[in-house]
Amino acid sequence: MDDRDSPAVRRRDLLNLSAAALAGAVTVAAPAAAAPKTPEEGAEVTPPEDLMREHGVLKRLLLVYREGIRRIEGGERAPAQPLNAAARIIRGFIEDYHEHLEERYVFPRLREAGRLTGTVSVLLLQHRRGRELTGRILTATGRSRGARAAHPLVADMTAFVRMYEPHEAREDTVVFPAFREVVPAKEFLRLGEVFEDEEHRRFGPRGFEGVVDQVADIEKALGIYDLSRFTPGE
Ligand SMILES: [Fe+2]
Ligand SMILES: [Fe+2]
Repeated sequence: MDDRDSPAVRRRDLLNLSAAALAGAVTVAAPAAAAPKTPEEGAEVTPPEDLMREHGVLKRLLLVYREGIRRIEGGERAPAQPLNAAARIIRGFIEDYHEHLEERYVFPRLREAGRLTGTVSVLLLQHRRGRELTGRILTATGRSRGARAAHPLVADMTAFVRMYEPHEAREDTVVFPAFREVVPAKEFLRLGEVFEDEEHRRFGPRGFEGVVDQVADIEKALGIYDLSRFTPGE
């Protein structure tokens, strides 16, 4: 069968058209001949959608930290194992992967275009500070801990949550929309494929979904997985 007729390729053509229209660059909509060779190469998720769903993982890990803070401040023993598992996902998935994508593909394009240069500098500094905090959280939760270690751990997790809530919100609402404006539609879709390939290279065939499952397991261990727990009573 001609691969141009495959559902994945038709979906890609639709994405080409919609992205081109959004960018006001209808002339660059790729003809079918430029379609990928295999369905796996189809750009099913655009770069901002990819990055934003990774922010969803980060948000859930911030909630894990919040639960750890709540327990320690309430006089309970620190749930070191779930907190350590959360910090390891933050290191491997958020810092080494997600922020690597931002620093390699998103921020340079904004700087080249002279867009949001001050914001980008702050975001880069926050990535560095985040890594310092994560290093300390990994150390504090990686061994059996006494009460003496609880205070700096709470301070580090609190600082991490406080920094990353506005960090990811600013990227979602300002940085990624600007990124979309400065990158031509065709390249935008190619980057979606680059992001997908990198995700599966690093995290295996299940990629993002596998990471989400790991986060869900941490939430279950802490008793915060059940969404209905967060619905206020009448
Ligand atoms: Fe970031
Ligand atoms: Fe981000």
